[in-house]
Amino acid sequence: INVPWDIISAERGGFKHFMLKEIFEQPRTVGDTIKGYVSRDYLLPFNLRDFRRILILACGTSYHAGLVGSYWMNKYLQTPVEVMYASEFRYADVPVGERDLVIAISQSGETADTRYSALSAKEKGATVLSLVNVMGSALDRESDYTLYTHAGPEIGVAATKTFTSQLAVLYSLAVSHLPDRDRFMEKLSSVPHMMEEVLGEAEQIKKVALKYANRKNMLYLGRYLSYPVALEGALKLKEISYIHAEGYPAGEMKHGPIALIDENMPVLVVVPRDRVYEKVLSNIEEVLTRRGSVISVGFRDDETLTKVSKDLIGVPEVDEDLTPFLTVIPLQLFAYYIADHLGLDVDQPRNLAKTVTVE
Ligand code: G6P
Repeated sequence: INVPWDIISAERGGFKHFMLKEIFEQPRTVGDTIKGYVSRDYLLPFNLRDFRRILILACGTSYHAGLVGSYWMNKYLQTPVEVMYASEFRYADVPVGERDLVIAISQSGETADTRYSALSAKEKGATVLSLVNVMGSALDRESDYTLYTHAGPEIGVAATKTFTSQLAVLYSLAVSHLPDRDRFMEKLSSVPHMMEEVLGEAEQIKKVALKYANRKNMLYLGRYLSYPVALEGALKLKEISYIHAEGYPAGEMKHGPIALIDENMPVLVVVPRDRVYEKVLSNIEEVLTRRGSVISVGFRDDETLTKVSKDLIGVPEVDEDLTPFLTVIPLQLFAYYIADHLGLDVDQPRNLAKTVTVE
């Protein structure tokens, strides 16, 4: 008999790749993750504000989630928050002690650098709270406390749905002590529906992406909460399409990357209408003056942005805090469609592993 499908493609649920399926799962996985945090069934026996400092340690995409989380925590906790690559922390003589909370973020819970840096912080007396997607993983077992992202198994090597679930947990943590916490959680609960709307634009995002599939280099810019989003977008593009992409804080462009800009350098700018909107618009002007072409990811009704962009990918207007949940999706899809167009092995890119258990 001729069986027109196999087990693997059945698991992909009709999607060509796991990565695409996982991108499309995000409204549900973020919704599932939020549920547990709205109901507060995660209650920790301490208040995040009791600590002198919060140190977030992670690698890869989890590090980018940690960076986003640090902006929310700085804003709402008013406790100093630092984020470090776990691989840097390990050999950097960072003073850590009993009054510090270390938040170790890892999808797999098995990343060697993250595990060992968390263990060494614990040895020095810090409290270790881990944020993992895999229950029973090494980091889960080795930490004082664990919170879970309920994203389900992630098969694609390039992390997508676990990133947005990590964001959901970090946001919940950042607002957990506020008297009007319920109001913040209500806003967060409206995110999955808006993510659905962004995914509804996938065909248009694909059209834009394919225009850039033959480029050799790309620059991604963003500021404030959109800075880690730009880093994550650039990481996605290099991981799966092998196009050199650099993520940079928009305000730092003048200190270096601006030298790279000419008509051959597409610049993707993440620019929702937030506190730094005007500043980033002036960075866009600087790019245009040097004949760079601007692809922007911003609010969909933004006429100013439409005028200055070669291509605008619009997302629904949302509270500035929550913009990363929406703006990262076009960047995931952008990388996906380019890599697929180039005929690359999207789910298992060369030289990369889903979990890196060596130092
Ligand atoms: C590898 C994966 C990345 C991931 C990183 C951290 O490099 O390819 O997608 O972001 O590890 O993994 P973790 O499981 O610690 O989040």
